[in-house]
Amino acid sequence: MTDYILTAILAYLIGSIPSGLILGKLFWHTDLREHGSHNIGATNAWRTLGKGPGIAVFIADSLKGQAGVALGIFLVGTPLAAVIGGLFAIIGHSFSLFLRFRGGKGVATSLGVLTMLMGNVTFIVFVVWFTIVYMTRYVSLGSVVAGFLTPILAALYGYPMEYVLFTVIAAILVIVRHRENIKRLMNGTENKI
Ligand code: G3P
Repeated sequence: MTDYILTAILAYLIGSIPSGLILGKLFWHTDLREHGSHNIGATNAWRTLGKGPGIAVFIADSLKGQAGVALGIFLVGTPLAAVIGGLFAIIGHSFSLFLRFRGGKGVATSLGVLTMLMGNVTFIVFVVWFTIVYMTRYVSLGSVVAGFLTPILAALYGYPMEYVLFTVIAAILVIVRHRENIKRLMNGTENKI
């Protein structure tokens, strides 16, 4: 039990590291919170600073999700621990200890977790997400659709209950974090990339 709690705490701390904010300030002297959608994620980094910074923030945020899962595997070694590590990394990213419990929308970090747990699901979700973003230029639309799709695919592929439950909770988190985007999508004022 102690190891599970330790996994959750460490994963939360790793997830809390505001990669987008740090990279933006360090390399481009820009506070992403003052530009575009004001989000500290990869989309706003791409929108505000360009393709390279967007990809850099995406990788850094994904790595936090992968690190959370790796922690669970290393410290405990059960599927539940892997899921707890991943989930707390996403929670840390979205409600960062270092940003007064504000943070990003959890898409890249969730994708990082997914790569560690469900390769085939990650691939399909990424292709769908990419297609939507490429065709509409709305990253948020791709992210929300990916949120709905992931639990369905996880269940269809017959993954363990812990994994399916993880995808449901992560999807709810991601969709709730996109509520302003959803409103903007519905009234036609959403930011494109
Ligand atoms: O990953 C976040 C993306 O779905 C939306 O980002 O900056 O357009 O709110 P943004």
